[in-house]
Amino acid sequence: MTNSASFANPTKCAGLVIVESVANSPTRRPPFRLGILLSGRGSNFLAIAESIRAGRLKGAEIAIVISNVAEAPGLKAAREMGLPTAVFISKGRKRAEHDADVIACLRAHGVDLVCLAGYMRLLSPQFVAAFPHRILNIHPSLLPAFPGLDAQEQAFNYGVKVTGCTVHFVDEELDHGAIVVQRAIPVMETDDAHSLSDRILVEEHQAYTEAIARVVSGEYEVRGRRYVKKQGAGNREQGPGKAGT
Ligand code: GRF
Repeated sequence: MTNSASFANPTKCAGLVIVESVANSPTRRPPFRLGILLSGRGSNFLAIAESIRAGRLKGAEIAIVISNVAEAPGLKAAREMGLPTAVFISKGRKRAEHDADVIACLRAHGVDLVCLAGYMRLLSPQFVAAFPHRILNIHPSLLPAFPGLDAQEQAFNYGVKVTGCTVHFVDEELDHGAIVVQRAIPVMETDDAHSLSDRILVEEHQAYTEAIARVVSGEYEVRGRRYVKKQGAGNREQGPGKAGT
């Protein structure tokens, strides 16, 4: 693999013309195009893909899956599903240069919303500015508690009785932007850091779909740090039945 993009399905680029023509239709909105960024196993990506396939996340499609790690299992899974994929190796590159390539790829694939799904890399200010309030991240704790690596273990070792996961917009600070969805779970007496991580992951998979559905609905504003539903919104939101917070 090289640092240059390997667009597995360049015909998707040509498809953008069709998407734009649909945008003029008063009766049908074009699908929201998701750009998934991942570095590892990709279970959140797979959960999003399954939500779309099963009709739980309407009005969204995966436009491209990008990884900074050539061997990422999530990337392999995306290829096997026939999705467009690209690899931009980040190791040894300047952040701004690497991010410029990723931004160009996302734009070439007409991405409306970037979903970080275990993407183990801080985004440059240029990246955040390129997709204002259009980048989501999932973090395995109830932010602002336990940002950074190994959040589940941090929470377990701290001895909290409740933890969970957070889907938030990405800003220039680590695990920091406006919160879209949080889901909480109790820490059991019988838990260890692994069992806790496993139970948080189950919540993550539902929370990400719910957060994307909220963004796709467009029925919200971001006021300062606060994600706020527009008045009268909410009933049309999709996603799993169990409500997040
Ligand atoms: C998840 O725990 C997510 O919250 C964190 O990284 C992990 C990625 O897992 N940001 P996966 O690759 O989606 O399985």
